[in-house]
Amino acid sequence: MFVPMRKILRDAEKNAYAVGYFEAFNMDALLACLDAAIETRSPIIIGFGGQFLSSPKRKEPENIYLYGALAKAAAEHSDIPVATLLNESDRIDMVYQGMKAGFGAVMYQKEPESEEDTLRITREVCKVAHYLNIDVESEVGRLPMQNIATGTADAGQNTDVAYAKKFVSETDIDALAVAIGNVHLLESSKADLDFDLLKSLHANVPVPLVLHGGTGISDEDIKKAIRLGITKMNVGTVLKRCYINALKPFYKEKEIDKIDTHVTIGWGGNDDMISAGRDAIRDKIHEFIEVFGSAGMAKHF
Ligand code: 13P
Repeated sequence: MFVPMRKILRDAEKNAYAVGYFEAFNMDALLACLDAAIETRSPIIIGFGGQFLSSPKRKEPENIYLYGALAKAAAEHSDIPVATLLNESDRIDMVYQGMKAGFGAVMYQKEPESEEDTLRITREVCKVAHYLNIDVESEVGRLPMQNIATGTADAGQNTDVAYAKKFVSETDIDALAVAIGNVHLLESSKADLDFDLLKSLHANVPVPLVLHGGTGISDEDIKKAIRLGITKMNVGTVLKRCYINALKPFYKEKEIDKIDTHVTIGWGGNDDMISAGRDAIRDKIHEFIEVFGSAGMAKHF
């Protein structure tokens, strides 16, 4: 069933768990998220990354309405609580299209942009979104980024508590993503989180707190962050890694030119490589759901 994100976040706050936002990249990945949530009877947030969908490197522009319709239908036709999110969109037109496309929550995030512009634009986004009963997430501060494939790393900036408080009161956002040492795309090690900063943010900011960069955080630290007030965890990179790894045997162990095409793609059986990818994502999300403590919480809705 479709549920507004804020409702799941409230339940998470009340019952000391975090709900996972697991970022999908196509229909199979989206369904894998639901597979795991259904299996564990967990609330879940499904959706897509706006910056990926609008990447200038794409050969064809993506149609946001298709992604919105897919997420909405997937939520509505499921018997567990499902919220939908168009995550991290750096294009404001896409944020508004996302609302029209049926996403239950949106997140505008553009860098670099002046504080003034971010405040003004976020305020406008909130006005429209709330009129439509859609939630808004924002990030204050900036996550560092570390990409093992390109060897690149960007510095981040931890969330300033006073500015976060001001940002929330001036914009009316529904959830705040915080930078406390968490790192986007981190696969080679685990992030070093500043728990004192998290405590202070939790004490001063009146909306649910979100931790992005779930791939690079240890299970212990995730649990501690949840105890200290995190109610939503974002996970992306490791799901794509699991998908890629699940496809390897199809190229290594079989004679790729002779495999049965229909059985290998679109059949849905044990020899289907797309299914293998979907199962790998499902299994990884299952593990996260156990760590987040959200298994079994679907019964609250
Ligand atoms: P990772 O890709 O590092 O797991 O982060 C995902 C994320 O924060 C999406 O918003």
